[in-house]
Amino acid sequence: LLTTVTRERIAPLHLLPAFDFAMQGMNAAVRAVTRMGIYVGAKVYLIHEGYQGMVDGGDNIKLANWQSVTNIIQLGGTVIGSARCKAFTTREGRIAAAFNLVKKGITNLCVCGGDGSLTGANIFRNEWSSLLDELLKKGRITDTMAKQHANLNIVGLVGSIDNDFCGTDMTIGADSALHRIMEIIDAIMTTAQSHQRTFVLEVMGRHCGYLALVSALASGADWLLIPEAPPQEGWEDRMCHRLEGSRTKGSRLNIIILAEGAIDTNGKPITSTYVKDLVGKRLGYDTRVTVLGHVQRGGTPSAFDRILSCKLGVEAVIALMEASPDTPPCAIGLSGNHAVRLPLMECVEMTKLVQTAMNEKRFDEAIKLRGGSFENNWKIYKLLAFQKPVQSETSFSLAILNVGAPAAGMNAAVRSAVRLALAHGQKVFAVHDGFQGLANGNLVEMKWHSVAGWTGQGGSLLGTKRTLPEKHMAEIVETITKFNISALLVIGGFEGYVGVLQLFEARSRFDELCIPMCVIPATVSNNVPGTDFSLGADTAVNAAMESCDKIKQSASGTKRRVFVVETMGGFCGYLATCTGIAVGADAAYIYEEPINIHDLKTNVDHLTEKMKQDIQRGLVLRNEKCHENYTTDFIHRLYSSEGKGIFDCRVNVLGHLQQGGAPSPFDRNFGTKLGVKAIQWISERLNENFRQGRVFANSPDTACVLGLNRKVISFSPVTELKDRTDFEHRVPLVHWWMNLRPLLKMLAKYQTSFCEYVPGEIEHVTRRSIIE
Ligand SMILES: *[C@@H]1O[C@H](CO)[C@@H](O)[C@H](O)[C@H]1NC(C)=O
Ligand SMILES: *[C@@H]1O[C@H](CO)[C@@H](O)[C@H](O)[C@H]1NC(C)=O
Repeated sequence: LLTTVTRERIAPLHLLPAFDFAMQGMNAAVRAVTRMGIYVGAKVYLIHEGYQGMVDGGDNIKLANWQSVTNIIQLGGTVIGSARCKAFTTREGRIAAAFNLVKKGITNLCVCGGDGSLTGANIFRNEWSSLLDELLKKGRITDTMAKQHANLNIVGLVGSIDNDFCGTDMTIGADSALHRIMEIIDAIMTTAQSHQRTFVLEVMGRHCGYLALVSALASGADWLLIPEAPPQEGWEDRMCHRLEGSRTKGSRLNIIILAEGAIDTNGKPITSTYVKDLVGKRLGYDTRVTVLGHVQRGGTPSAFDRILSCKLGVEAVIALMEASPDTPPCAIGLSGNHAVRLPLMECVEMTKLVQTAMNEKRFDEAIKLRGGSFENNWKIYKLLAFQKPVQSETSFSLAILNVGAPAAGMNAAVRSAVRLALAHGQKVFAVHDGFQGLANGNLVEMKWHSVAGWTGQGGSLLGTKRTLPEKHMAEIVETITKFNISALLVIGGFEGYVGVLQLFEARSRFDELCIPMCVIPATVSNNVPGTDFSLGADTAVNAAMESCDKIKQSASGTKRRVFVVETMGGFCGYLATCTGIAVGADAAYIYEEPINIHDLKTNVDHLTEKMKQDIQRGLVLRNEKCHENYTTDFIHRLYSSEGKGIFDCRVNVLGHLQQGGAPSPFDRNFGTKLGVKAIQWISERLNENFRQGRVFANSPDTACVLGLNRKVISFSPVTELKDRTDFEHRVPLVHWWMNLRPLLKMLAKYQTSFCEYVPGEIEHVTRRSIIE
């Protein structure tokens, strides 16, 4: 197959991922960098055992080919090994490393690791010409060699389970670590139901409380201890009081989450044993400590990490291609859902500032310097962790309903919305069975503890239906009047959006519908306009990915086989595309990118070629509605016939398992955050539109879809979204994720125009940009 590279300036490229730390998702990065390097015409070497391998040279530096990284995307750890290296911290070590690189003609280096490894790479680059001078003086390299290798370009991929690198929204490995932690918390929660117990859970994070914070948010933990926010004097009493409080309200299980680096205001460590003994002695509760340790680095990488690694890996190669001697070294990071280039050393400096702030006990600043998302998580955790006295009662009543198919994260959104609305002094009604339930008056008043433990539960605890309000308008208005509802929060998929649009359009007929209405998008298909992500989509991609991993594994040891896997998503190809990237699929057919017989032929030829090269498995994803006539069965038959004698073909329809069991950590947190944002917005609209003893809201900006657009939480009026919606196919007209398609193809070695790839922008990182 041809690869068309249309960029003008393609210097001969040699890349090598060097790793000094293993974590999930790294293999996906190794694969992406290797393949993208080969794709653009470079020679790619893999350095085994990190910097140690670079210092030792020899067999540690291996030329890679396309197949070297086949079937590694789903593996935990890193297949090329990683080691901490003392030698590289010395000049002799770096001279040896420089010699090894020059010998192989390597002038581009891609390093994946924490800030320590990246700083090491930067030192190496700064010293490069003096290292070469020394090698030249000693006669180990020739003058020509020195000239040919005069510049070393480096690029960093940040791998850290702590997500502690300033400038990027996420580091490689953090999401997978959260998956491991949530699996354990879920296991504890189910077994603990029969006993009254308190769990003290110690998670990794010597300097950074990210994992602890996000796990506490995602599990609704009773108490949280992180290094960035040491508890005030007397916290022991307050903690015990809180635990007692939740026991008397019927909770059988208490969870305390502690980062391994938790400290008190004097900087003295707070240990899990200390907390356990405290609870045991003061309250007499049966208390257990669980130290999660290295399991957090283990296991199969999450879909998010795999996709992140692919995005960052591809961008790293482009950044190296475009590097010139004066380009400052960059790290590739994530901003919203795009890969961006960050100034490496500025980010390292900013990361160090957090530690300095903590050392100097400027804790508020430390939290701010961690970035807006960290601070936001911290605020939301504090807001929802325990019931506080209501500031002022209002007379507003709010109804919350789930609409459409169940999606993971719906319950988390209901929980946070209920709690925040109660804290705002509102009365909250839960509607069972969507708009149908609203028409039937199937409402129940909710209290703080009605939603305890809801974050981790899959499906929809309220019950959900697809019914649209159109035909039930009069009954709905009757319910709204009867319960004196002043605002509606709809958590659901495309029907949720269409439903609110119908209610909005009925405002002219019914004054009762002139109330604030908000839609939180929740659907595995991710097809609601006005947001980049819907709740449930991340869980669905993980569920589909895990199934595909198993399907691929089932064929190991057998003869050559191609699997055709059908995914859900309606006419929206998000699920198929993201799953395809996460499992390293050979192709993903979607409706948005029409296929014809030539495409199918190309794919069949490609697989045939691949199978001849001793690769035993192929995987092709097909979105359920990608083509009316090229059905899953058709594609199965086509591949079966064309593969005769070379491979056989099997079909799998994933079906409803994609709606997922337990929500992913991302969906739990995203749901929690959206619930909070929705209520904040609703409360503001209520106050703005309250006149003469009643709420009257009829402007378009009082019926909105709450969404995440790039990095920004936004509210888009449903009427405005109308122009951006394809109602027939139930999808937005423009999909941001279409720019992931070239990635999928390039990494699967398909002919695709390199022009389609949109390179990352350069982001500036300053203290200001982070704090704001
Ligand atoms: C599928 O086949 C029907 C005829 O059976 C044809 O009318 C239709 O256009 C085809 N669909 C597509 C997408 O080509
Ligand atoms: C109904 O709600 C409004 C606020 O929208 C409030 O002012 C009014 O007192 C409520 N009426 C009753 C009967 O509770």
